[in-house]
Amino acid sequence: MNRILVILYCLKTVALAGLSNKIYWTIEDLPFIYGRNVTFFCNTSAVGLQKTTWIKQSDVILHQSLSFYSDKYTGKEVNDGSSLTIKNISESDLNTTYTCLSDVYSYEAVVMINSSNFICLPQSIDITWNISGRNIIVQLNIERFFPVPKCRTMFNDDILNTNQQELNYLQGEFFHGNINITSKSAADLCGGNLTVVCMFGGSYNDAIETKILQDCNASHEEVQSLNFKEADTKTNSHQDKYEVTESQYLQI
Ligand SMILES: *[C@@H]1O[C@H](CO)[C@@H](O)[C@H](O)[C@H]1NC(C)=O
Ligand SMILES: *[C@@H]1O[C@H](CO)[C@@H](O)[C@H](O)[C@H]1NC(C)=O
Ligand SMILES: *[C@@H]1O[C@H](CO)[C@@H](O)[C@H](O)[C@H]1NC(C)=O
Ligand SMILES: *[C@@H]1O[C@H](CO)[C@@H](O)[C@H](O)[C@H]1NC(C)=O
Ligand SMILES: *[C@@H]1O[C@H](CO)[C@@H](O)[C@H](O)[C@H]1NC(C)=O
Ligand SMILES: *[C@@H]1O[C@H](CO)[C@@H](O)[C@H](O)[C@H]1NC(C)=O
Ligand SMILES: *[C@@H]1O[C@H](CO)[C@@H](O)[C@H](O)[C@H]1NC(C)=O
Ligand SMILES: *[C@@H]1O[C@H](CO)[C@@H](O)[C@H](O)[C@H]1NC(C)=O
Ligand SMILES: *[C@@H]1O[C@H](CO)[C@@H](O)[C@H](O)[C@H]1NC(C)=O
Repeated sequence: MNRILVILYCLKTVALAGLSNKIYWTIEDLPFIYGRNVTFFCNTSAVGLQKTTWIKQSDVILHQSLSFYSDKYTGKEVNDGSSLTIKNISESDLNTTYTCLSDVYSYEAVVMINSSNFICLPQSIDITWNISGRNIIVQLNIERFFPVPKCRTMFNDDILNTNQQELNYLQGEFFHGNINITSKSAADLCGGNLTVVCMFGGSYNDAIETKILQDCNASHEEVQSLNFKEADTKTNSHQDKYEVTESQYLQI
């Protein structure tokens, strides 16, 4: 029994010491985005044209591009190696080991998730705007997200100086909670697009919602009808409340 273990240990050591860097796999699309697809590529060019097998932990999932779970994995063989696409990724696809095998060579690595490589975009957002003169207050009530984003307001192409306050709780892997942002525009807030953009994991920007602001020259009647029209033409699923304060009318 011990001898077998020792032999296995030696095989593993040899693989790690010498042969393991013959082939290797890399992740093609980072960050991981919950519910989307991710592709790994096993580069076997160092060992010539070989058929490749992919293993998750100890389960063979793809063999010579034939998938054993076709609703979850697809792949294809090309000259330099083999790709593995995991569809609709979730927690259970991550924090685990994937191995690619080609001929006698193998490469094993753990796919770890952390706050910079894994993102779950908000499942639902309840957004309330309060635009008063050049001041903007946006309240976001968000269900299921990761990590906690840094949100800003943009007026057309200008990024506005934004303050963020948040109150979130972790439920399982994901956050739920409330983010309030306040910003002040240097220019009058009219005739343009006001967008809330949130950055997840230090590099991934997601436009949460855009509000089209009416021209300041429009008359009071027109402003009201524009607001009305905007509410009618809303296409996304976010619930929206819009509060126009007296001061905005006074400015007009
Ligand atoms: C994921 O891959 C499947 C099959 O290739 C495709 O139908 C689906 O549109 C992809 N989903 C995304 C979000 O790219
Ligand atoms: C595979 O690795 C070789 C050598 O490192 C490299 O030249 C080649 O571009 C890689 N192929 C792909 C598809 O990444
Ligand atoms: C994606 O996976 C989740 C479970 O993680 C499942 O509830 C959902 O229906 C799947 N979506 C698609 C399009 O397969
Ligand atoms: C993944 O592993 C990291 C570090 O071990 C841990 O903090 C995290 O909670 C794990 N995530 C999941 C989904 O298991
Ligand atoms: C997160 O994981 C990636 C590898 O997927 C690694 O390059 C990065 O350094 C990790 N970041 C943190 C903050 O641990
Ligand atoms: C909107 O914000 C202003 C401060 O900028 C505040 O005075 C006003 O009460 C707020 N309106 C609502 C409906 O919260
Ligand atoms: C956001 O604003 C709402 C309404 O003013 C308040 O109830 C909530 O506590 C605020 N959240 C944070 C994190 O400050
Ligand atoms: C505002 O957004 C709309 C649609 O998203 C776009 O067509 C328009 O050009 C934008 N306007 C400005 C001033 O950026
Ligand atoms: C508003 O009217 C003034 C004067 O008629 C004009 O110069 C200005 O360009 C108009 N502003 C917009 C946003 O249309």
